[in-house]
Amino acid sequence: MATSLDADTRPIIPDDIARIVIAPKSYTDDATIYRAFKWLREHMPLGIAQVPGYDPLWIVTRHADIREIERNAKLFHNADHNPVLNDQASDAFTREITGGTTRLLSSLTYMDPPEHASYRMLTANWFLPGKISKLEEQIRVLARQSVDNLLSFDGECDFVRDFALHYPLRVIMTLFGVPPEDEPKMLKLTQEFFGVHDPEEQRPEMAADPVVAAKQWAASIEDFYAYFDKLSAQRREQPTDDLLSLIANSRINGVPIPRDEANGYYVAIATAGHDTTSSSTAGGLHGMMVYPENWAKVKADPGLIPGLVDEAIRWTSPVKHFMRNATADTQVRGMDIRSMERLMICYPSGNRDEDVFTDADRFDITRSPNPHIAFGFGPHMCLGQHLAKLEMRILFEELLPHLQSVEMAGDPRLVETNFVGGYKALPIRFKKV
Ligand code: HEM
Repeated sequence: MATSLDADTRPIIPDDIARIVIAPKSYTDDATIYRAFKWLREHMPLGIAQVPGYDPLWIVTRHADIREIERNAKLFHNADHNPVLNDQASDAFTREITGGTTRLLSSLTYMDPPEHASYRMLTANWFLPGKISKLEEQIRVLARQSVDNLLSFDGECDFVRDFALHYPLRVIMTLFGVPPEDEPKMLKLTQEFFGVHDPEEQRPEMAADPVVAAKQWAASIEDFYAYFDKLSAQRREQPTDDLLSLIANSRINGVPIPRDEANGYYVAIATAGHDTTSSSTAGGLHGMMVYPENWAKVKADPGLIPGLVDEAIRWTSPVKHFMRNATADTQVRGMDIRSMERLMICYPSGNRDEDVFTDADRFDITRSPNPHIAFGFGPHMCLGQHLAKLEMRILFEELLPHLQSVEMAGDPRLVETNFVGGYKALPIRFKKV
């Protein structure tokens, strides 16, 4: 089923650069991955990667091209192939267990028009800024608890393990309606779900398996389903006002949504809803430690916190890619893209594009405007973007007044992933006010 891209006159990315962009390990080292993206933006903003073991694919690194492709969801599909890049062996395994498709999960990400819109509409209203802002007080209580917990450390901690990992998880699980005692289970499953390539996040029985990505992905989805089946049945019997209940009782054209689609929704929200936000929060603090003038500015003027949030998300770009599939022959940036060819959309690269961002590698909370594409673009643009920004703003509003200073107490460590990830550890030393 692998598509084949003929080389002919179309640009082929040098092997070493193509391997860097595709390999999960490259994302553990910002210098390596951002150097490769910079080279591509400058020399081959749309080029073909031919890495053995993977389908040939276009790598898209410019902000404008990413927006153009993502905006056109009829011409560039999510679901004709896997919207997440896996090697061919993993995709073959997925097809084997699904009976021929790469749709392992019936979530929004695996849907195209018109199916996508009908499912997205079920919760779109719940996620609107006006609705989300009503949750502010509820979220602030969780933020205060997390800050109290951080301050209980004696001036030194791992900002990720001891803090950033837990708060977004608490927020989304509380709004979702998952009981607090089940949060560790949700965290572990999410880390396995996104960390399929990271040896520290792998299930022991998966290590050294050539199709580890697909197998681990499938195993965590199965565990999520087993968990959510029970909760879903409860909410159908006794509806409440949480998000899970809204989805469990949703109907399309008067018919209750099927089990797989309900579970796909839960898994997408339960996973996408916290890892991304934790990483961006850690990235915000890291950015201010590397570029300390920002710390001084935001301490003097808390009105800069929304700018800090946006810059943290741009600079961190916790979602590394999604894939698109051309549905017809077309052109982007003058390049001939043929029907059924695959494109890898590289958000971190678009967010460092020199045509859009001045001094793009620099962390600058006063950057304005900040038209980053860390949430994607077009009809699939992140459903939870307003919630992510709200919870990060509240967290920094609660945290910063309690800290006099903060500095690095060791090197940060990043997750080995080309999909969703970011900080695994950020050791800090801090002084309380
Ligand atoms: C989709 C990023 C937080 C739920 C996406 C996409 C990106 C993204 C890049 C794909 C967009 C595209 O294909 O164009 C982020 C970042 C976050 C974040 C950077 C935090 C800083 C959240 C939160 C939730 C969430 C808090 C839920 C509570 C979703 C869902 C989708 C999605 C359901 C699929 C949307 C669709 O395909 O229609 N996100 N996300 N995300 N995100 Fe987020």
